[in-house]
Amino acid sequence: MPVTHLEKHKKGDIKVTTDQHGDKAELLNTDFDVLVDKALSRRSLLGGGIGFGISAFVMASTALSPARALANSSRLAFNAVSANSLDTVTVPKGYSWQVVASWGDPLWSDGKDFDHTTRGTGSSQERAFGDNNDGMALFQNGGKNILAVNNEYVNRKIIHGNRESGVPENLDDVRKSKAAHGVTVMELKQDGLKWSIVKDSPFNRKITPDTPMEITGPARGHDLMKTAADPSGTSAKGTWNNCGNGRTPWGTYLTCEENFNGYFSSSDSTLKIPAELKRYGVKTKDRGYGWAMADERFDLAKHPNEPNRAGYIVEIDPMDPTSTPKKRTALGRLKHENAELVVNNDGKVVVYMGDDERGEFLYRFISEGKYTEGGDNTDLLETGKLYVAKFADEGKGQWVELNPSNTGISSQAEISIHTRKAASKVKATTMDRPEWVAANPKKSEVYCALTNNKNRGKKTNAGGDATPVGGPNPRVGNIFGQIVRWRPDGGDHTSGGFKWDLFVVAGNPAVYQGANRGSKNVTADNMFNSPDGIAFDTNGLLWIQTDGNYSNKKGFTGMGNNQMLVGDPVTGEIKRFLVGPREAEITGITWSGDRKTLFVGVQHPGERGDSSFPGGGSTVPRSSVIAVNRDDGGRIG
Ligand code: FEO
Ligand code: CA
Ligand code: CA
Repeated sequence: MPVTHLEKHKKGDIKVTTDQHGDKAELLNTDFDVLVDKALSRRSLLGGGIGFGISAFVMASTALSPARALANSSRLAFNAVSANSLDTVTVPKGYSWQVVASWGDPLWSDGKDFDHTTRGTGSSQERAFGDNNDGMALFQNGGKNILAVNNEYVNRKIIHGNRESGVPENLDDVRKSKAAHGVTVMELKQDGLKWSIVKDSPFNRKITPDTPMEITGPARGHDLMKTAADPSGTSAKGTWNNCGNGRTPWGTYLTCEENFNGYFSSSDSTLKIPAELKRYGVKTKDRGYGWAMADERFDLAKHPNEPNRAGYIVEIDPMDPTSTPKKRTALGRLKHENAELVVNNDGKVVVYMGDDERGEFLYRFISEGKYTEGGDNTDLLETGKLYVAKFADEGKGQWVELNPSNTGISSQAEISIHTRKAASKVKATTMDRPEWVAANPKKSEVYCALTNNKNRGKKTNAGGDATPVGGPNPRVGNIFGQIVRWRPDGGDHTSGGFKWDLFVVAGNPAVYQGANRGSKNVTADNMFNSPDGIAFDTNGLLWIQTDGNYSNKKGFTGMGNNQMLVGDPVTGEIKRFLVGPREAEITGITWSGDRKTLFVGVQHPGERGDSSFPGGGSTVPRSSVIAVNRDDGGRIG
């Protein structure tokens, strides 16, 4: 989730930034130090973690103090990286990084090397790695290394930087834009420590907004899914705005459609947008992608049901380039961030999912069938139950099933399509923008990054639900974000109840007292804002990536560029591992099976014009997948 432009506020020097969510994160110190009493009195229920409340900002009884973390032998065995605003990637001493793939790198030998003047054409982009890489997963199978990577969106001013207007001006510009979206599947090889793309590998594949997909689950064939091109409502074209990801133990990749709405517009500006589409931010006005100009599917006046066919999780078999991706409507239609899959003790498959918008919800899917190792698991995500989270202030919460009887929505198909509406009906807890969810491999414990929410306590969500300050969303106008975690009752991921606390509340202890100081495990040496991508390594350490304010000014002073940190869920210790280049977000993470290579995504460097990463000099900034290795060849994490 990027910032796409910076504007000057009319009154004085208040700068606001606008991103895909229409977010305007204020850069000024404002009166944030307001907490509701309920949040102030909370203590840690999970133990060993960070109690939240006023005591968390002073000294909670069960909270970690940084001194205690240091006194214990730390599991974070690397030298912390200092915050910086350099236009490069910084990793700890004894580690190195390299670029594996950048936007526009050809996947086939008939493709063209990236052209920094034209920034490519429709045909060159169709043979090349997409833009703005996000979630990714490495599949190692039969001696092959297959990397599936989301290409979330395009930086219009960069990809169309060859145009004076900075927007697509003709059909080929739109063709290029569409081809830079979706999912890239590519084989990688390693020579020594050097990773590179295997050009012409039979596994290389581009899944784009035009790739045929099967619609599965409750919404399949529903009237709301039918279009002129697909009168049966069973086969959609393509995927776009693919944000975070998931993976299954049966070897498939899950890609998550997030801000799908921004690509639709209407040739009839007087078109009335129904409330169900407004809830997802669908508007008549084009936002700069111009796709409707080249593909009338994106014209709401002509194809009003088309937006109902996006906003899903799509399952892809990365090892079979001829396979048809499947849209899994049973997992609901949201602005899906990622999909964290857990096989429960009883074999049921549980998928945790955040809906990244201010005041939206956190979801859980439980499969009807059970996973069997080596068995046929291909349709486990087709049938199951969908739940939404309700958090109570006392550190407890429950999952509420979304079904016709408790939502008043007539069918499971419509719940799968109008999922936000269904969750509002059961009065789920409005959250501070749920981003990635990550499950601890060492215990039944799940984490979710709540990145920020300027509307908390000030404004309802798009469905009119209140956003009260409290529970896991304890700060009004939250600009720094926090990570909530919960433990399902009885260690059973299908339980109705759970207990929660906050693993970390981001803040700036060098600038603020009170709530915006952050929790005790935030120090002047590790501070950050807007946690977004999170993932556990197999060793049980939590990796935290940020997509936040990189101004290094006012309340963000000392945080520098977006970064990646590592947290110890047992002690609460957090240490900075990596700092990204200028104006980039760090997002997407996966490891080689031996954990000796860590792949990390660098997204939208130079989104406002101040980066030439990774080429340097006068080159065009390009989103890239990088590989990090230890110089001694050891394991990472
Ligand atoms: Fe694509 Fe919510 O980040
Ligand atoms: Ca994200
Ligand atoms: Ca984000």
